[in-house]
Amino acid sequence: MHDFLSDSRFKGINPFETKLWLASPTMHGDEQRWVDEAIRTNWVSTVGANIDAVEEQLAKYVGVQYAVGLSCGTAALHLATKLAGERLYGQAKPNQGTLQGHRVFCSDMTFDASINPVAYEDGEAVFIDTEPDTWNMSPEALEKAFELYPDVRLVVVAHLYGTPGKMAEIRRICDAHHALIVEDAAESLGAQYLLNGHWTETGALGDYNCISFNGNKVITGSAGGMFLTNSLADANKVRKWSTQSREAAPWYQHEEIGYNYRMSNIIAGVVRGQIPYLDEHIAQKKAIYERYKAGLADLPVKMNPFDAERSRPNYWLSCLIIDEDAMAPMVRGEQDYLWKHEPGKSSPHEILEALAAFNAEGRPIWKPMHMQPIYRTHPFVTAEGNGRGRTNAYIQRTTADVGADIFHRGLCLPSDNKMTKEQQDTVIEIIHRCFR
Ligand SMILES: Cc1ncc(COP(=O)(O)O)c(C=O)c1O
Repeated sequence: MHDFLSDSRFKGINPFETKLWLASPTMHGDEQRWVDEAIRTNWVSTVGANIDAVEEQLAKYVGVQYAVGLSCGTAALHLATKLAGERLYGQAKPNQGTLQGHRVFCSDMTFDASINPVAYEDGEAVFIDTEPDTWNMSPEALEKAFELYPDVRLVVVAHLYGTPGKMAEIRRICDAHHALIVEDAAESLGAQYLLNGHWTETGALGDYNCISFNGNKVITGSAGGMFLTNSLADANKVRKWSTQSREAAPWYQHEEIGYNYRMSNIIAGVVRGQIPYLDEHIAQKKAIYERYKAGLADLPVKMNPFDAERSRPNYWLSCLIIDEDAMAPMVRGEQDYLWKHEPGKSSPHEILEALAAFNAEGRPIWKPMHMQPIYRTHPFVTAEGNGRGRTNAYIQRTTADVGADIFHRGLCLPSDNKMTKEQQDTVIEIIHRCFR
């Protein structure tokens, strides 16, 4: 580890007394009231007024008819993926997934919870490369994937770091190929996208939609997630599956596999207390993004991009990407890395280590799924076609892998909405000193 505190480049900067987090929960007090109310009235299981309230309020906020509270976003994604699989390929046997023998196109640069449910359901994820304009699924690569695998009928799309992807193009391509969309809006609650002339919330853009209340999200329940839909039948099915798939009988009667995925009324109390602050949190995140953008403007870096005409991000995480010619040497193994400083240049790991030395938390860009050891044997499609076997010993050319490039040159910055302006100025100063 480099000793940043004794490095003369960082002279005069003191470590933060309390840690600056990437994104931590921000409680306001109302959460306590609803949790206390649940305990006082003895509604502490998976039914109660808090669950009813958050389902109603979030359905209204996102602009869908139904919301089903679940234990986490991953559970929502699992049941969304299973619903899609069942609609496409029929009900599976209890010991088989609904996607057995089928491929599913998936966002590549996302958290693995977006796409693991494809494996839970025995499907094969085919990873679709990222586009540089929003760091989300590339519509060009998706078109190519349908050329390579025309039978595919399901696409899992995430909005990375709260920035909506190119949903108009993705929807058009999916419609042309009669494919359904599972939308993972776990990171993007409150972000909007201009679809057919209407500002539409993420979480209302897919055929099956999911959000998360994980502790690091823009609002939190400490845990929790939600399935969002305009289909009453789908909402009812998810509610049934999430509570062990009980049939209408006086005893425990089961015709389908069930799960214990329902939201608790205590968690829902925390979410209920947070919902009134969602817009305030987004405004704080936006201010953080804009301060970074202004403060880093003189450096050879760019912020995580978005389409200002067609989208309003929720700015969940602020990120930067270093210009190619300002990248100092940095290599990564599977679990380790090395970096070297060069004057006027820097690298994600130099900046992350410097931030850590001063008690601030950053994070590498989410490592693309096609690079993950667990999914290395799965297909990967770029805008140019098959993204596996991209080099040729006899031809001097390598095809683009946008996700790998963003992972190499990018990093997530401290984006906690409780960070003060002065603290953020210090973070910006630390980043400047890394480039000295
Ligand atoms: C993109 C994405 N999808 C899914 C999840 C899973 O949500 P949860 O942690 O609520 O299960 C997360 C984060 O946690 C996420 O960032």
